[in-house]
Amino acid sequence: MRTAQHLPVEVAGLGSYLPERILSNHDLEAIVDTSDEWIVPRTGIRERRIAADEQATSDLAVAAARRALQDAALTAKELDVILVATCTPDHLFPATACLVQAAIGPTDAMACDLEAACSGFVYGFVYASGLIASGMADNVLLVGAETLSRVTDYTDRRSCILFGDGAGAAVLRRTRNGGELLYAELGADGSRPEILEIPAGGTRLPASHQTVDERRHYMQLQGREVFKLAVNKLIELMQRIPEQTGIGLDEIKMVLPHQSNVRIIKSALERSGLEMEKAYMNIDTVGNTSAASIPLAMAEAAACGKLQRGDLALLLAFGGGLTWGSALIRY
Ligand code: COA
Repeated sequence: MRTAQHLPVEVAGLGSYLPERILSNHDLEAIVDTSDEWIVPRTGIRERRIAADEQATSDLAVAAARRALQDAALTAKELDVILVATCTPDHLFPATACLVQAAIGPTDAMACDLEAACSGFVYGFVYASGLIASGMADNVLLVGAETLSRVTDYTDRRSCILFGDGAGAAVLRRTRNGGELLYAELGADGSRPEILEIPAGGTRLPASHQTVDERRHYMQLQGREVFKLAVNKLIELMQRIPEQTGIGLDEIKMVLPHQSNVRIIKSALERSGLEMEKAYMNIDTVGNTSAASIPLAMAEAAACGKLQRGDLALLLAFGGGLTWGSALIRY
């Protein structure tokens, strides 16, 4: 499946959680050879949150999930499905979603993880919508949660400045109040995995003394390459909205982009004829939180009243895999 149109699904509730510890650009200056003056204009990031030693991804996810359930006025028992989008699960298995299920229960909702890196929340939104539209589920808890600090190489200044930890959650349900998934498109290109990867720790290169010594359990990225590909793909995704739906980009109230880099978003939006003000940005305080970034931004935008019921919002993501996706919703 590449696209979907007019699915009767709405966001019933949103929640988010950020760990308390702040790692600022000035803190990073003490760790690697970098500076606030280098980081801010190139990325838009000023600080990011870092999970406490005893916190893993499911802990962040549970905190966000509880808030989303409360916002939706729903109990865990009423959930049919729990999806956690993450590339930093607590374990290879069991799924982080199963740990979330146990913590927020009692519920016998099916639970599994979804790994599409930074596009995970948009992928999850479409999966959840398909389950609801097909009648297999009425209520889905979708969480995007990451503890990227555990796989960030704090000796590599090209990557360690980018990433942070956090979780955002949405309760999706069959439409009651006029919400809708108007259009969605997902895609992937798996031919160049090395552009953005954690080389070791899976079955291709299991953990060994050598992989640890060579720092191969950390994220490695070809930043320039990702930057170019991301801008071009985001422009393509936006172009297809009016072509496929007849809805002009100017009718969209808010773009909720994956917070990868402020320059990526600005360049993609401006080349699509949109003002940067259309995008809800919080990268300055949270950095790149991969699958958590869109629900974190969405929950924040709704909480401060910038995203309101009835608004058209465009979720937009590009990330590791490579994967990408767009979802145009009536909130
Ligand atoms: N502080 C100071 N200097 C730095 C630096 C830092 N944190 N990081 C890189 N540099 C230096 C490099 O060493 C290089 O110097 P050199 O030419 O003397 O070797 C120079 O700055 C340019 O490096 P480059 O990596 O080409 O920088 P860039 O302009 O592409 O910016 C990113 C780097 C990471 C900010 C940018 O490429 C980016 O945001 N890419 C996408 C991020 C991404 O992959 N996100 C994950 C998926 S969404």
